Amino acid sequence: MTTCSRLRDTFPWADIKQLVDQRKAGYSLDADFYVNPAVFEADVELVFGRHWIFVASEGEIPEPGDFVTVDVGRASVIVVRDDDEVRAFHNVCRHRGSRILDHARGEVGNLVCPYHSWTYATSGELIYAESQDPATFDLNQFGLKKVNLRNVAGLLFICLSDQAPEDMDDVAATIEPYLAPHQLRRSKVAAQTDIIENGNWKLVMENNRECYHCGGHQELLNSLFPVYGYAEEDLSPRLKPAFDRYVKAQADLRQQCSVLGMPYVAVEELDTRVTAFRIERDPLDNAGESITMDGRAASRRLMGGFPTAKLGRLGIHMQPNSWFHFMGDHAVTFSVLPVAPDRTMLRTTWLVDRDAVEGQDYDVEKLKRVWEATNDQDRAFVQRAQLGVESPAYEPGPYSAPEYQVEAFCNWYVSRLAANLDTVA
Ligand code: FES
Ligand SMILES: [Fe+2]
Repeated sequence: MTTCSRLRDTFPWADIKQLVDQRKAGYSLDADFYVNPAVFEADVELVFGRHWIFVASEGEIPEPGDFVTVDVGRASVIVVRDDDEVRAFHNVCRHRGSRILDHARGEVGNLVCPYHSWTYATSGELIYAESQDPATFDLNQFGLKKVNLRNVAGLLFICLSDQAPEDMDDVAATIEPYLAPHQLRRSKVAAQTDIIENGNWKLVMENNRECYHCGGHQELLNSLFPVYGYAEEDLSPRLKPAFDRYVKAQADLRQQCSVLGMPYVAVEELDTRVTAFRIERDPLDNAGESITMDGRAASRRLMGGFPTAKLGRLGIHMQPNSWFHFMGDHAVTFSVLPVAPDRTMLRTTWLVDRDAVEGQDYDVEKLKRVWEATNDQDRAFVQRAQLGVESPAYEPGPYSAPEYQVEAFCNWYVSRLAANLDTVA
């Protein structure tokens, strides 16, 4: 994905570079990072356009011909199941460029352009183009343009750049043993919501990277220990009882994981590599089974044929745009996509085993309750933050110790922006 060449000469790359150079570690970012349209364009091109971004999971497209489309800046991408393989293509016809698919999800036999009916197989090959001279027209030259796609144990990542970061191989090798037991290939979508948050995409991500604000999440605190991100020495007396429960639950969970041969140890590389991530299997509070109002499983049919629901939560954070919770009974995936400097789309997907029957094995409202409420609370926090950073009175403020993952996100973002600015500025 590239900025229009006509604009490239006048684009303020140097100003953005200066902004990056001025960034003060340990503090929230300057307002320009959240409000300036030029920074937003740079984010879309250099961050979202050149890194692996999470867009869907295999459970969303279980059958051949099932597709989702995803908008990343001006690019629209089709992610489609072609027999047993998932592929990604630009949603742009090779005839005169028409957009091909309009819907966010659906199913197709072939991909037919609505303009003049050029027809592509789900492999991306052009198979029909009316009135083109067969003597001179070579169908093979006009297949859909491919987008890099990586399937990590059922999580689907795309990279719009031809030079996709190669370290995804290492990251996938680390993540897959944690994730594989959940068998995402045999999951199905129980619910999916798209909400638009009135804030910059970085505020959405930053908000997700700390539990300093978890006092605002009453529903979530029924199962999530509010000590996430805290070192023991940073705990206030208020959090000590929860920490003691956490330590006990962690010991029990680790024992359970050892018996089942499931990895749980935290691997944290949030700002130390290009495809940056964090993974850990962590205990849950109360019944310890799931992120629900009482901590008990919301689906009676467990994922992956697990013998118990009490597996805590496998939590994954990926830079720049996703986070995940995988429990014994269901999984929740979150994909963040920038819409405008002050608008961001958050897609939340609840997955259950494909054989789980709605109304019998699970109740959708019960399944969604915690994250629907939490997303709404976070939406309000993000909007407040956006309103604040837009004020002339805003100046970057200092992070506390339990916000170290927010700082890691900003470190990653600023360093990746800087590295890619060097290739265009
Ligand atoms: S633009 Fe697609 S068939 Fe003409
Ligand atoms: Fe939150």
